[in-house]
Amino acid sequence: MSDHNASENTGPNARRPVVGKLDEQDLPEAARIFRLAFGTFLKVPDPETFWADRDYVYSRQRAAHVASYGATLDGELVGSNFVTNWGSVGFFGPLTVRPDLQERGIARALLAKTMEQFNAWNTRHVGLFTFSDSAKHIALYQKYGFFARFLTAIMSARAVRHTAAGWLRFSELSEAQREEALQSCRNVAETVYPGLDLSGEISATHAQGLGDTVLVEGVRDIAAFAVCHYGPRSEAGADTCFVKFGAARDGGSAEHHYLQLLDACEALAVAAGMSNVLAGANMARHEAYRHLVARGFRSEIQGVTMHRQNDPGYCHPGAYIIDDWR
Ligand SMILES: CC(C)(COP(=O)(O)OP(=O)(O)OC[C@H]1O[C@@H](n2cnc3c(N)ncnc32)[C@H](O)[C@@H]1OP(=O)(O)O)[C@@H](O)C(=O)NCCC(=O)NCCS
Repeated sequence: MSDHNASENTGPNARRPVVGKLDEQDLPEAARIFRLAFGTFLKVPDPETFWADRDYVYSRQRAAHVASYGATLDGELVGSNFVTNWGSVGFFGPLTVRPDLQERGIARALLAKTMEQFNAWNTRHVGLFTFSDSAKHIALYQKYGFFARFLTAIMSARAVRHTAAGWLRFSELSEAQREEALQSCRNVAETVYPGLDLSGEISATHAQGLGDTVLVEGVRDIAAFAVCHYGPRSEAGADTCFVKFGAARDGGSAEHHYLQLLDACEALAVAAGMSNVLAGANMARHEAYRHLVARGFRSEIQGVTMHRQNDPGYCHPGAYIIDDWR
């Protein structure tokens, strides 16, 4: 790990966690702790193999728009957190601490650094996704000014539709067209929330081969877009196409373009050989959620989003957005 003062690991503060940036060599242990922490919390039989078919650690640490932090005790990695920058919007996670060392302030040390990071970025709207039924989680995040607001359903449906009209794949564009498309996606995001910027997410997905970005209605005047991951090296997992973020340009045609976007995501899943589409639906974005239900999506996991200063941000009726902030 870098950025931390090794001398803090000795002397009277020997058992105080030290937080610094995660390095590439920390990633195997960070990934192991991630699986162990969630697997233990969710009481699965073999926590070390939990979610072995997906990655939240390597790809985030390697993404330019994510700041990755690790906590050490006596030089040993014991937890990590990943802080994502979507322009004026930011969220953090997965936050994990080795199960045998929980309840001694390690998450709090990581969260203190996380909040510093949002301040340094001057992030306007900050949130997170967590377990809605855990008093500990809600209380922990509340200490940092986050309040529980909206149920968010992680929903899935079978991908069967091969064809969809009027969409392109970011990966199939020329270099010049990609630049245009990135700007156009920024324009779409700007209509749903000022300063929201998914270009880091689109570029990381492309550069790391995690999936692709679906562009509805052209390159220059995109009407809707969705950053999708698929397969086991990504956040989606085996046989799944995960819509990490999707949005339709705000305005009178938003609903129409949102439905086109859902068709395109399904067609992308089929083209990528995935049987399932996974999408996060924040229930405050009522119409966007209802359309997923109407299309046969069923909830796999339900959590809650917590928002700094109780600010709803872009979670309101009429916002045709898919994301879940995991
Ligand atoms: C959630 C997690 C990261 C917390 O890590 P941790 O190191 O145990 O947390 P900390 O000890 O730093 O802080 C926990 C705080 O919650 C408080 N707390 C715990 N249970 C509580 C309850 N029922 N009500 C109120 N406060 C509670 C503790 O008192 C402590 O606050 P304090 O230091 O001010 O007393 C850890 O439990 C974990 O890895 N869980 C599995 C993975 C996970 O769920 N990650 C988060 C997903 S959003």
